[in-house]
Amino acid sequence: MLIRTLCLVAYFIGLTAICATTEDPGTEITGLRCEMLTDPLGIDVVHPRLSWRLKPGVPGARRMAYRIMVASTREKLDRNEADLWDSGRTEDRGTSWYITYGGSPLQSKQQAWWKVKVWTAEGESSWSDAGYWSMGILNYAEWKSTRWIGMDKAFPWDSISQFSRLSARYLRKEIALKKKVKQARAYIMGLGMYELYINGNRIGDQVLAPVPTDYTKNVKYNVYDVTAALQPGTNALGTILGNGRYFTMRQDYKPYKIKTFGFPKMAMQLDIEYTDGTHEIIKTDESWKLTADGPVRTNNEYDGEEYDARKEMPGWNRPGYDDSHWLHASYVQEPGGFYEAQMTPGMRVMEEISPVSVKARGKGKYILDMGQNMVGWLQIRVSGNTGDRVTLRFSESLTEEGELYTENLRDARVTDVYTLKGNGEETWHPTFVYHGFRYVEITGFPGKPALENFRGQVVYDKMETTGTFESSDTTLNSIFKNAYWGIRGNYKGMPVDCPQRNERQPWLGDRATGAYGESFVFGNATLYAKWLDDIRNAQTPDGGIPDVAPAFWRYYGDNVTWPATYFTVADMLYSRYADYRSIKEHYPFMKKWMRYMEANYLREGLMTKDKYGDWCVPPESLELIHARDPARKTDGTLIATAYYVHLLQLMTKFAGIVGAPDEDVRHYRDRITEMTEAFQQRYFNTDRQYYDNNTVTANLLPLAFGMVPDNRSAQVFDHIVRTIEQTNNGHISTGVIGTQFLMRTLTAYGRADLAYRLASTTTYPGWGYMVANGATTIWELWNGNTADPKMNSQNHVMLLGDLLIWYYEDLAGIKTDPSHPGFGKIIMNPAFGCGLDKVSATYRSVRGPVVSNWSRKRGKLQWDITIPPDADAEIYLPAGSPDKVRVDGKKLHTTGMVYESKGEKIMVKLASGTYNIRTSY
Ligand code: BGC
Repeated sequence: MLIRTLCLVAYFIGLTAICATTEDPGTEITGLRCEMLTDPLGIDVVHPRLSWRLKPGVPGARRMAYRIMVASTREKLDRNEADLWDSGRTEDRGTSWYITYGGSPLQSKQQAWWKVKVWTAEGESSWSDAGYWSMGILNYAEWKSTRWIGMDKAFPWDSISQFSRLSARYLRKEIALKKKVKQARAYIMGLGMYELYINGNRIGDQVLAPVPTDYTKNVKYNVYDVTAALQPGTNALGTILGNGRYFTMRQDYKPYKIKTFGFPKMAMQLDIEYTDGTHEIIKTDESWKLTADGPVRTNNEYDGEEYDARKEMPGWNRPGYDDSHWLHASYVQEPGGFYEAQMTPGMRVMEEISPVSVKARGKGKYILDMGQNMVGWLQIRVSGNTGDRVTLRFSESLTEEGELYTENLRDARVTDVYTLKGNGEETWHPTFVYHGFRYVEITGFPGKPALENFRGQVVYDKMETTGTFESSDTTLNSIFKNAYWGIRGNYKGMPVDCPQRNERQPWLGDRATGAYGESFVFGNATLYAKWLDDIRNAQTPDGGIPDVAPAFWRYYGDNVTWPATYFTVADMLYSRYADYRSIKEHYPFMKKWMRYMEANYLREGLMTKDKYGDWCVPPESLELIHARDPARKTDGTLIATAYYVHLLQLMTKFAGIVGAPDEDVRHYRDRITEMTEAFQQRYFNTDRQYYDNNTVTANLLPLAFGMVPDNRSAQVFDHIVRTIEQTNNGHISTGVIGTQFLMRTLTAYGRADLAYRLASTTTYPGWGYMVANGATTIWELWNGNTADPKMNSQNHVMLLGDLLIWYYEDLAGIKTDPSHPGFGKIIMNPAFGCGLDKVSATYRSVRGPVVSNWSRKRGKLQWDITIPPDADAEIYLPAGSPDKVRVDGKKLHTTGMVYESKGEKIMVKLASGTYNIRTSY
C-alpha cells in the first residue's frame, strides 16, 4: 500500500521512474489490437498503431509507462529478442491511446509478433500474451505479373438489362506442390464478391466479401492463412465470383446515375513458403478454367439469387475434377483502383434466429414470420424431388389481407429460388445477396413447411456489441431494441440507408450524427474509418463531395448537410476511439471541400446551397412523404449556413489536433464571425426573438452551434419549448437535420423532462409511435405506416438523430470529456430528474467497460458505477449536502475522494474501479 501511495504521488508529480522495480502481479493486459483489429493478416499501414486494455480489477489502475517488443517470429518474441522493435520503457499515461510502431521498416508480407507490459502505481506488470499482425503487399510492383482473369461477356442465359441477371462464375486451377509447405497465404481480390475454396474447403468465414468500394478508385484484397488447407501433391484452387456492386444490380439503366464496373473478375497470389526456406508464388493467369454454367444462375442484390442444385458440379473445387468442358479464363482489364488491404473485418453471419410462425395461405403458399425485421437471408432445409422449385419472396410487413407488402420495395424483386436436386435433405441459403425482411412468402415447398425448416441468418460487419441499455420505460427500451436491429442490419461493409428496396446506398446524410450514437452500441471504428476513405476517394478534383459514397449513385449536387458527415464521422472516431489519425489523414481533403463551398456558394456571409432541407419532417397529411406546408419547413440557406458554421467549428478543433498553420484557424474563425453575424441579421426576428419561421429546427441549430447571442438564448429556447409543448402537444416536428440536435439541446437547456416526453410518447409522430404500430426497426418516415410507399422503408436509421447519444450521455451519464477523447476522462452527469426511475447502461470503451446503473425512489438515489482502467471520472450527484453521500457504504468525506459543490450538484472525482453510491436529495 505504501508503495502504491508513493507511486500515486509520483504519478501526479511525474516521477514514475521510482516505481520501476516493483512487481505488479495484479495488472493484466488484454485485448491486444493492431490498427484496431485483433491479429490482422495483411495490413498495409507501414506504421501500424498498437493498443491494448488493462483488465479491470485493480482499483485506480492507470498506466504510467509501457514497453512493447516486436519480433519477426514467435520464438524470438518468447526469447525477448525484439528484432523488429523494442520501445524500451516509455513514459506514457494513456493519453496517446494508440502507440505507433517505431521499429525497423516493415516489408511486404512481413510477420510481426508483439507483446507489451505496463507500469502502473502497483509496479511493473508481467508481459501480455503475444499478439500478431502481418503486412500486406506494399508495392504495386509486387502485383504486377498477377493478372486479372474472368470472362468479359454474358452467357446465353444471362441478361444485361434493368433487371440484370448474371450467373456466378466458377474458376478453378490445380497446382502440384513438390515440397513440404511451412506456410501459405492467399492474397485475393474477387469482384464484385467471391468465395475461395482449396481442396473443397471454404477459406475464411467472411460473407459477401470483399467490402464494397468504388473499384475504379480502390480495390480491397483479403489475406488468408491457407497453410492447413494445402496438402502434399495436387491441390485444387476454386473461386466463385458473384456480382455485388461490380456488375451492378441495374444494368443499362440510368447510366448517368448508376455506376457499373463490368463483369466479375479476380486476381490472386498464393504465396507458399516451403520448409526448405524457398518461396513460390502462384498467380492467376490464363491457365485457370472457368464456367458460368454452375448452380448460381443469377445473383442480384435487389432481385435475389436463383440456385439450381441440379447444376451443382460435385468435386469442382477438389483435385481430379474433369474440367475439360470448362472454358479458359481470359485476361481482363484491371478495375483501375489502387489495391489496398481490407482493414475492416468484413461481414459474417452474426446471429441466427428462428421464425415465430408459418401459416398456410391458399394452395401451396405459406407466409413465414421471423418475428423481427432482420437483414441477411433465410436458410432453408428441404427434401423433395429433383426439379422442385422453392420460391421465397421477402417483405418487411404484410398487407391487411395478410399478403406480402412489397410496394415499398420499388422495383426490387427480392426473390430467391431454390431448385432441388432431389436426393435427401438439402440445405441452402444464397451466397451473394441479402434481404431486409420480416416475412417470407414460400411457394413450391415440397410437403408442409415447418418452423424447423428455416433459419434467419443475420448478416453484418463483424464487430463487438459494445452497449446495452435498459430503463424503467418500456417504450424507450423497445426503441433501443429497434435501433439495435436497424443499425446492424444497415452495416454492409459501409453504412447503407436501407436494406430492402432498390436503393441500399451509402447516403452520407443519414449518419451525420447517427454514427456517433451507433458507436455506443457497436464497435464500428474500422467500418467508419473505411467509409471516410470511401468519401475521400469520391471527392472531385476541385473539392466537391457527393451525397453517396462510394458514389455508386452519382449525386454530386453540392450541399452542406450530407457532405458534412465526412467531418462528423471523423470527429466521432476521434472522440469515441481516440483515433487522431483519421482527422490527420482527411484534414487536407476536408479543407479543400470547405474552400470549394466558400468559393462557389458563400454569398454575403450565407451559405446558399442546400438540397434536402430538414429532410422528412412530419408532413401535414399522413400520406405525404415531404411536407409542403411552408410553416413546417425550414429554410435551406438557414440550415446550410448554420451547419457550415458547425463545420467551421469542427475544423478549428481539427486544425489544433493536426497542428495546421495558424492561418487556417484564422480563416475558420473569421468565417464563423462573419457568417454568424450575417445569419443573425438575416434570420433573427428581434421583435419576436426567434429565427425565421420559428420552426424547432430553425431555433435549434443556432442554439446548438452557439450562434445565438447570449442574452437571447433563453428566449429562443423558450420558443422551442412552446412549439413542442403547445403547438405539437409534446411531439416531434423535426426531420433528419433538427433531430440530430434535439434531445441534447433540450437537455442542455434544462428540459430533459421534455426530451423524455418526446422519446416516450407512443402517439404520432415519434419513435414510440413506430413501436406502438408494430415496428421492430426504425422507419424512414415518421408516418411510415401511412405514407406513399415510394419512400417508405421500414428499416432506415436516419431519424434516430441524437436519440442514442442522449440515452447514453444524458440518461446514463456515460460521456467522454472532449479534451480526453476515448473516455480517458468520463463525465457522468445523468438527467436524474427527467422522469425515469431507473437506467442501466453499459458501454465497452476502448479502455474497458463503463457501467452506469441508477435508480431513484422517493428522494433516494442508488448509483452503481464502473470506471475502466486508464480512465477517471467526474460524477455529478443531486445531493443537497456531501454528508448525504455514501460511497460503498462510507460517508463521502471519510473516503479521501476529491469532491466539490457545483451549483446544485456535488461533483466527485473517481479513479478507475467499481463504486456503489447512495444519496438522498
Ligand atoms: C434515401 C435517404 C437519403 C435520401 C436523400 C433517400 O432515398 O433513402 O436515406 O439520404 O434519399 O436524398
